[in-house]
Amino acid sequence: MVWKKIASQSDIASGKGKAFEVDGNRIAVFNQNGYHAIDDVCVHQDGSLAPGSLDGDIVECPLHFWHYNIRTGELKDYLKDIKLRTYPVKIQESDIYIDV
Ligand code: FES
Repeated sequence: MVWKKIASQSDIASGKGKAFEVDGNRIAVFNQNGYHAIDDVCVHQDGSLAPGSLDGDIVECPLHFWHYNIRTGELKDYLKDIKLRTYPVKIQESDIYIDV
């Protein structure tokens, strides 16, 4: 377990996501009823999910509109049993840490 500080809470607006590169991995962190981190690589054509629009726990890939659950990483349409990797998130003194 390696907690890495990646941002301050104020860096990610409520209802939005932001992309980070951590140890060579593209990770999207969303501020939506808490903070949630998933791999930032859409399985369709590697689109970044971080700028996608959120509807509850579901983010829409901005490129061709595939949908993922930001808590579980689960792809919600087109293909079965696809899950993006998720990462535990903790907040400490207004900073966001993820376990990579
Ligand atoms: S790259 Fe995400 S839907 Fe096409």
